[in-house]
Amino acid sequence: MKAMSNRVGLKPVFLVGLMFSAVLVSNIAYAADTQLENAILQGKNSFAHDTFGGNGKACVSCHLAGGAEPGKLPNGKVIPSLANAATIFPRFQQRSGKVITLTDQIRSCATNALQGTPPDYGSAELNSLASYITSLAQGKPIDMGGTPQ
Ligand code: HEC
Repeated sequence: MKAMSNRVGLKPVFLVGLMFSAVLVSNIAYAADTQLENAILQGKNSFAHDTFGGNGKACVSCHLAGGAEPGKLPNGKVIPSLANAATIFPRFQQRSGKVITLTDQIRSCATNALQGTPPDYGSAELNSLASYITSLAQGKPIDMGGTPQ
């Protein structure tokens, strides 16, 4: 009799536990989506406005339409669109003789093109720029070493 009442008692506890877990998991997924969305928006804002204490330019001064379209340097050199940038890194960079990642490239543009202080590796600023640029290429296949579109 005692064993029976225990078995009956377990069912609702199990069900409540299951419902609680479902709410918890959906909350975690929601929080993750929101945090990522926030990082992308922060990166988009930084891409459009941040000068990194440099020459007054922002990323968007060269990478037009938020990076979605190619630009041109005064000397005529084409500035690649960033539409697939996130899919073609890591890649070998002739100039430095090294394999570089997307964050290396972002820091390189902040240092050389903006003549500013690049955001630190692991910083929210660098990660949000990487999140934004990666969001431009969402759904495109990985093409390591490929060329900009
Ligand atoms: C003065 C113009 C200029 C500015 C400003 C600039 N870039 Fe660039 N960017 C370039 C050029 C030119 C390249 C081509 C590769 C190279 O020369 O390093 C490039 C390449 C890139 C690439 C790689 C694209 C690819 O597919 O090869 C990324 C990513 C990038 N820039 C991000 C940024 C970010 C983020 C900023 C702002 C912190 C920025 N750039 C600011 C000129 C600029």
